[in-house]
Amino acid sequence: MIGATLSRWTLSYFACAIAFLLGAEALMALGFGYPGAAQRSPETLVLVHCVAIGWLSLLMCGALFQFVPVLVAKPIHSNALPLPALLSIVAGLVALIAGFLQLAGDLPPNSTTFVVASALLGIGFVLVLWNLGRTLATAWPLNISARFVAVGLASVAATVTFGIVFTLGFAGLAQTPFLIDLRAHGLPLHIIAGLGGWLTFTAIGVSHRLLAMFMLSPELDGASTRWTFHLGTLALAVVVVGGVVAIAFGGGVDAVLAIAGVAGLASLALYARDVLHLYRKRVRPVIELNSRMAAVALEHLAAAVLLTVACAALGLLDRFAGALVFLVGFGWLSGLGLAKLYKIVAFVTWLECYGPVLGKTPTPRVQDLVVEPRARKWFWLYFAAVDVATLCLVAELPLAFRAAAAVLWIATAAIAVELVRTRRLVNVNAALRLPTGARQPRLLFTFVAS
Ligand code: HEM
Repeated sequence: MIGATLSRWTLSYFACAIAFLLGAEALMALGFGYPGAAQRSPETLVLVHCVAIGWLSLLMCGALFQFVPVLVAKPIHSNALPLPALLSIVAGLVALIAGFLQLAGDLPPNSTTFVVASALLGIGFVLVLWNLGRTLATAWPLNISARFVAVGLASVAATVTFGIVFTLGFAGLAQTPFLIDLRAHGLPLHIIAGLGGWLTFTAIGVSHRLLAMFMLSPELDGASTRWTFHLGTLALAVVVVGGVVAIAFGGGVDAVLAIAGVAGLASLALYARDVLHLYRKRVRPVIELNSRMAAVALEHLAAAVLLTVACAALGLLDRFAGALVFLVGFGWLSGLGLAKLYKIVAFVTWLECYGPVLGKTPTPRVQDLVVEPRARKWFWLYFAAVDVATLCLVAELPLAFRAAAAVLWIATAAIAVELVRTRRLVNVNAALRLPTGARQPRLLFTFVAS
């Protein structure tokens, strides 16, 4: 990755993302939204989108601006566009939250809020898609990791389109018979395209490269990886296209989801096989904290999948949907996100600060930018709090859930402090910290030669 272009605004994405995660966890600890309020209540919609757009989507966008050029060995189409995209998505999310708070009666009603939210979120994600899409287009035909990302980007386009239809529906627009049906029956398509396609499928694609890179494992491009891609893409296409067609013809989406579920399960089973191979075949004997915690996040994905299959078989999916979405959102996606952030911030900071002076003067290693023993306890506390919170949702114990959410907030805040210390080079021995020619990195953006 030496010589890779650094993404100028990726750290701003990360900083906004962490702020939204801490905000959502604080709201949960205060009893705002589910499980104190109903699953489809406006308060729960605020929480869900602080996490889904504010934390997970901004984290993913920031990571993709840095890693798509690495995946395809081509420079990013524009290193300037990510900033207006970020501002548009954040402003759109604030408007969406304001709209939901109006629905809840906490703010005076004003239907333009939802129209403004739709426009800003639409523009923001289109700028992201344009920039990453143009970058991928320069590397045709795409390698396997990049193909996962391409399908992930198509999935976020679908997620945002469904989301905008729902949002315009709250503004009293989107009233054609088809759009009314889509609003009535399309929510599972929105959720699966967002959590399954955009966030999970993209993470699967990027993790193939990142796990291999950070653990020095042989990269996989064999039949199981290709079939993970084909079956996953098929499952997502069946959900999005099959779902919309079924709704257009006045049918339900249950059959479509069942078919997609089989293909999706097969894809995840092959991915599990690949991940075990990557960990077993690694050259680096000692697993770094980020890879170790990524393994814990992967175990949460496996648990969520098995529990979802069991609930579906026992007809308990509706009852435990909240707990399952929480486990996917906080155990798998957020757990993986925090684990990878711990490595990416150190790596990007090392590259930016010491890359220009490498070989000319003594420099620290990437590992010297972090203190793993100190961070490890906070990651374990994070995952323990996720597990207890999930059990509280299953057992319907809202007060205990709030206590677990408070511990989640403490662990996340401590991990965020570790990231800031890394970025500020606080952990590096003073003698090695800023050799001649090296520059103190800025917290929120990266110096990039234009
Ligand atoms: C990017 C990833 C996204 C994910 C993972 C996501 C996830 C979800 C989930 C889980 C729900 C159901 C919440 C519940 O019932 O408690 C939901 C509902 C909703 N989402 Fe999203 N969302 C995303 C993006 C968006 C965007 C960009 C918009 C707006 C432009 C949006 C607008 C909505 C609306 C209005 C609802 C409520 C639908 C209803 O209850 O009828 N979402 N979303």
